[in-house]
Amino acid sequence: MSGRVPVAVMISGRGSNMAALIEACADPAFPAEIVLVLSNREDAKGLETAAAAGIPTKVIDYRGKGSREAFEDAAIEALEEAGAEYVCLAGFMRLLSGHFVERWRDRLINIHPSLLPAFPGLNTHERALQSGVKITGCTVHFVRAEMDSGPIIAQAAVPVSDRDTAEALAARVLKLEHQIYPAALSLVTSGKARVAGERVILDEDTSELKPLAVPPMDG
Ligand code: GAR
Repeated sequence: MSGRVPVAVMISGRGSNMAALIEACADPAFPAEIVLVLSNREDAKGLETAAAAGIPTKVIDYRGKGSREAFEDAAIEALEEAGAEYVCLAGFMRLLSGHFVERWRDRLINIHPSLLPAFPGLNTHERALQSGVKITGCTVHFVRAEMDSGPIIAQAAVPVSDRDTAEALAARVLKLEHQIYPAALSLVTSGKARVAGERVILDEDTSELKPLAVPPMDG
C-alpha cells in the first residue's frame, strides 16, 4: 500500500482536467492516487489518456443501463470495487441524482468554469461575456444535489477583455482549471480542507494572496 488516498475520476469527454490530476498524482509526494477513470461515454478521449498512463478505466453507458438509477448503482459499485475514497468529476456532463451525491457526501468534487455561484450550467463563457463581468474564473467544489453547487474548495480568477471570444476566455480559464484542481485535491486529501456546514475551512490563511486581476488605472 502506498498510503495515499485512493481517488476515482469521472469524465465524459476530452479529459484535460483528468490529465492534470493524473500528472499531479504521478508525484509520489502527492497525497492522492488515481485508482479508476470512469466514463459514461465509450468515445471519451480522456479514456485513451488514462490508459496510456496505466490507470484502470471503465465505461458505463447510460443508454445501456436504461435509467439514471441503474447507471448510478453500477457506477457506485465500480467506484467501491476500485476502493475510491474520493470521486473527482472532471468534465462529467450528466447530472447526478441525490442518491449518488449523498452516497459520496463531502467526498465528491467537481470543477466548473466560472466563479460559482455565478453562471452554473452550460455555455458559461458565453453568458459571462454577455453579462459584462470584468472577472471570471473557475471553481472546485464539493458536490450537492443542485447543479454546480456546494461548498467551495478553491477558485481562481482571470480578467475578461472586451475583445474576448468565448473560446479565448475558455482557453485562459482552462489553464487555471488545470492548476486549481490538483491544488484542491491536495488540500482535501491531505486533510487541510474540511467541510463545515456549507463552507470549506482551509488550514491556511489566504488573506495575503495577491489579487489576480487589477483594472488599469490612470495616473
Ligand atoms: C472543463 O472546462 C470543466 O470545467 C467543464 O467542462 C470542461 C471539461 O474539460 N465542466 C463543467 O462545465 C461542469 N459543469 P476537460 O474534459 O478537458 O476536463
